[in-house]
Amino acid sequence: MPASMDLYDVWNHINVRTALLGVTLFMILFWVFRRPRNLPPGPRGWPLLGYLPQLAMIKGPIHEALGELSQRYGSLVSFSVANHLVVLLQDYDVMKEAFAQHELSGRPTLELSQLTLPGYGVVTACGEPWVELRRFSITTLRGLGVGKSSFEEHITTETKCLMEEIRKTKGEILNPRHFVQNAVSNVICSVVFGRRFEYTDTQFKRLLEALNNIFELIGAGGVIQFVPIFAKMQFLPFVKKIIHTNLSFDEILYQLLFRRNVQQGEVEYNENPRDFAGAFMKAMDDKEEQGVHTYLTPASMQYTLGDLFGAGTETTSTTLLWALHFMVGYPEIQTRVQKDIDRVVGRNRLPRLSDKPELPYVEAVISEVQRLGNTVPLGVPHKCIEDTTLRGYHIPKGATIVANLWSVHSDPSEWPNPSEFRPDRFLDEDGKFVRREKLIPFGIGRRVCLGEQLARMKLYIIFSCLLHQFTFQTPEGAAPLGFKACQGITLAPAPFEICANPRDN
Ligand code: HEM
Repeated sequence: MPASMDLYDVWNHINVRTALLGVTLFMILFWVFRRPRNLPPGPRGWPLLGYLPQLAMIKGPIHEALGELSQRYGSLVSFSVANHLVVLLQDYDVMKEAFAQHELSGRPTLELSQLTLPGYGVVTACGEPWVELRRFSITTLRGLGVGKSSFEEHITTETKCLMEEIRKTKGEILNPRHFVQNAVSNVICSVVFGRRFEYTDTQFKRLLEALNNIFELIGAGGVIQFVPIFAKMQFLPFVKKIIHTNLSFDEILYQLLFRRNVQQGEVEYNENPRDFAGAFMKAMDDKEEQGVHTYLTPASMQYTLGDLFGAGTETTSTTLLWALHFMVGYPEIQTRVQKDIDRVVGRNRLPRLSDKPELPYVEAVISEVQRLGNTVPLGVPHKCIEDTTLRGYHIPKGATIVANLWSVHSDPSEWPNPSEFRPDRFLDEDGKFVRREKLIPFGIGRRVCLGEQLARMKLYIIFSCLLHQFTFQTPEGAAPLGFKACQGITLAPAPFEICANPRDN
């Protein structure tokens, strides 16, 4: 301090510095906590953490708690989670409007999977790469016959194997999850690798195990996959576990692909691909030969194959589990389904896709299972990729957009007594099936599920064949089913046991 400076000067000096510091701090805090103008309404939450503590304290199902926000804030709600903006869509009309927009059709990045395999697949890509991957996937699935009667044979073959396995239980107690998941996943294997696997095949078992682990981890707070800071905190045991699980899923997919290539040979996959993997490799080769720029790369292939497994297996098998669960819980509905199938199909053959128009009650039951089961209650998150407006509100680039599909399926103005299982809602006065616009288990808009056709075929064939061949019941002396659900990215029925009694005459 200069000798000439007296106490007054010192005081003044400190004051100026303190004031400057105070103003800077105020500006930083203002910048951090400012709520940009014209955002959709919503709870303010805590400094820095935003609505995160309230979310962490939710005891019941999270989609129901989020659904309640619409009573106070309407069908478009926004809140911040650790300084990141989340926009919640709560009714059908706002979802339809939002997801028609290109700006709201991005996806948040899965930060942790970028550590082990940088890239994206059709589920996670945004912008141009997504357009090419989605177009390619849809065209290829269609080319392989998915959604058409030519593909029916694959599903029926797999369903016969499933019924064979169930028959082996001889009416004893069984946990249906394992059986159903094997069958559903094997149908995807016939799409992706052009073949099915024995349920005892070690690599097939490992693939399902890795898939289950991924979904379990997502359920246990996999939201951290989307938060960049965790990618820098690999020492955390939970982060380590996710990385390890991602790695083993990638590795097993790679091995299965290698096995497929060895078995099918190079010539065949290049000339006449009869599965998704072959078609992808051919498209990459063709583009390279033509010198055309493409987003079809080895990494996007690996991701997209994984996406088809991930998105296709868990969702469809969970829906089928709900179907069995409801059949056991409502035996009179099960009997009505069986009578309907017997009337149209008889007892000498299995139900076919061509019987579907004659089986409106079966379709109504599957639709009601999808409505009340709510397999993907909060859909798959979207990301806003460019500033835009929705219903006059500002939606900034980077915001995460979550569609609460559960709210749409539980709206009492559309579905009277929404918590009741009532397939008749999907029938008109003449008993004909009525498709309802506000049943959207596959999402809506530009990113709507691209496996919808395949899923619908699988659900119909597997469900109708199972009910044609078996009557499902709770084991003798067991407590009635409680219709409880386990929350993850999918909403599955809590583990339950049933007996499958063959209908042999
Ligand atoms: C009952 C079964 C299924 C349900 C309930 C379901 C539901 C969904 C939902 C809600 C989305 C998100 C839509 C959005 O982002 O707005 C989605 C996306 C997707 N699903 Fe499905 N899905 C099912 C079966 C399948 C199957 C069998 C496949 C595989 C062939 C599949 C592949 C995909 C893919 C690739 C996407 C991402 C589409 C994109 O981002 O462009 N899904 N699905």
